[in-house]
Amino acid sequence: MEQSLYERLGGSEKIIQIANDVVDNHVANPRIGKRFANTDLPATKKAAAEFIITGTGGPEVYTGKDMRATHAGMNINEAELLSAMSDVMDALDKNGVDQREKEEVLFILFSMKDEILFG
Ligand code: HEM
Repeated sequence: MEQSLYERLGGSEKIIQIANDVVDNHVANPRIGKRFANTDLPATKKAAAEFIITGTGGPEVYTGKDMRATHAGMNINEAELLSAMSDVMDALDKNGVDQREKEEVLFILFSMKDEILFG
């Protein structure tokens, strides 16, 4: 049987590293960094890791809020979403993730856009 995306990304340990890099990239990103100014970064990194672990076919460890509730009231626009998605792609590159897995992550992120935008 084909391995899950979770397994192909390298399992929990690797995904924790990817999630840390994603949040670090967001904070350093001039287009969206200010959004994270009043955020508990270690908690956000932990939630991001658990979200990816669960969302890619790993154990059901995500206990955070759903995406609509998380981003409600932020009024996020398309340019910010695109920029955040680029941060994720950069984090995957940094961690040696291959093209096919990058495409799958990109598709998953894009498919959630209506829960993130203009809420
Ligand atoms: C498909 C795209 C996105 C996904 C999958 C996603 C996912 C998440 C997750 C899992 C959390 C943690 C939730 C929790 O702590 O329970 C989070 C928090 C957050 N996200 Fe997103 N996000 C996306 C796009 C964005 C964009 C585009 C922005 C802004 C430019 C953004 C801003 C934030 C902020 C500021 C927080 C922290 C909220 C807090 O202070 O707790 N997100 N996101």
